[in-house]
Amino acid sequence: MTKNTREIFVTGGAGFIGSAFIRLLLDETADCKVTNFDALTYAGNLDNLEGLDAARHRFVHGNIADAEAVHTALGENTHAIVNFAAESHVDRSIANAAEFLRTNITGTQVLLDAVRARGVKRFIQVSTDEVMGSLPENEDAFFTEESPFAPNSPYAASKAAAEHLVRAAHHTFGLDTVVTRCGNNYGPRQFPEKFLPLAISNALKDESIPVYGDGGNVRDWIYVDDHCRAILLALEKGRPGAVYNVGARNEHHNIDVVGSLLNTLGKPRSLIRFVKDRPGHDRRYAIDPLLIECELGWRPRETWETGLQKTIQWYQQNSRWLERTRSGAYKDYYRKQYGTEVAAT
Ligand SMILES: NC(=O)c1ccc[n+]([C@@H]2O[C@H](COP(=O)([O-])OP(=O)(O)OC[C@H]3O[C@@H](n4cnc5c(N)ncnc54)[C@H](O)[C@@H]3O)[C@@H](O)[C@H]2O)c1
Repeated sequence: MTKNTREIFVTGGAGFIGSAFIRLLLDETADCKVTNFDALTYAGNLDNLEGLDAARHRFVHGNIADAEAVHTALGENTHAIVNFAAESHVDRSIANAAEFLRTNITGTQVLLDAVRARGVKRFIQVSTDEVMGSLPENEDAFFTEESPFAPNSPYAASKAAAEHLVRAAHHTFGLDTVVTRCGNNYGPRQFPEKFLPLAISNALKDESIPVYGDGGNVRDWIYVDDHCRAILLALEKGRPGAVYNVGARNEHHNIDVVGSLLNTLGKPRSLIRFVKDRPGHDRRYAIDPLLIECELGWRPRETWETGLQKTIQWYQQNSRWLERTRSGAYKDYYRKQYGTEVAAT
């Protein structure tokens, strides 16, 4: 490390996407080191950080809504903050939104205040397509950066509020901010309350796979490393104040996602169990990624087939990770949500 080393403050780096981003950042840049600031909620997992170079990665346990903790953890010359830290599960926000407001809204403002007070050069907000609500089931409708905000869940509303705060900090204080908005990520190390890892882990154990409603909801899937490459490009080359939609043009009905998974694993469709729909369930998300493609030259590297294959293989080869993640508090949550026990591991 030289005096030109850039210190990147990553929040939520023990989670699914944050940990993938840190791996990518350390692999693809020679001049960066990372402070990983994470509250280790139920979704944070230190196992996700196994194998990272200790000389370039420092973990700090802390909450982004705690201004003092953020200030203490920030280095003297932090180049950028990349904010992944969030309460991220829609179902949990429907059960109780309080923590979503504290982390996703207050936490984002605390970080923006710290950027201003400490002269951090750049702030990246990792946001979601869910801030734009739901699209009709019409192949011609897509979310663009100009689509109006129409969040439909407490989670989406809290992420929309966070984006407004980022926009206001850029406009009022001239902070150098960039927002990325992405669809459904899939890949290694995703907490198995989310749709795809839940389906994979249940299928591997021949347990039934809960599918909401009629399974006709459409999501735009992206392999996690492709999303992280977009965030890295936004960090390195994004236009100050810009918002970039990130999507791999990979729309699928939920029921077809489970179908592909069962085919790949050679498991019967009888494992599918339709359950009562989520209240206010958005019907369709679809992202137009033209801006990030044209302006930053971003392209996804994985196809749905290669990404799904890699993802399934990772869960098959990492049963210890799955076992540890599916234990403890997650079991209570699972029981409440789906009315059955988590499969024994
Ligand atoms: N998963 C997706 O498909 C998806 C899609 C679009 C956008 N996003 C956004 O990407 C980001 C990361 O998502 P993810 O799927 O990796 O989430 P995740 O739930 O797997 O991880 C979130 C991480 O944030 C940490 N965290 C939570 N509250 C915190 C707090 N107050 N202070 C510090 N750390 C805290 C958790 O411990 C965890 O490590 C989120 O901001 C989410 O809104 C996710």
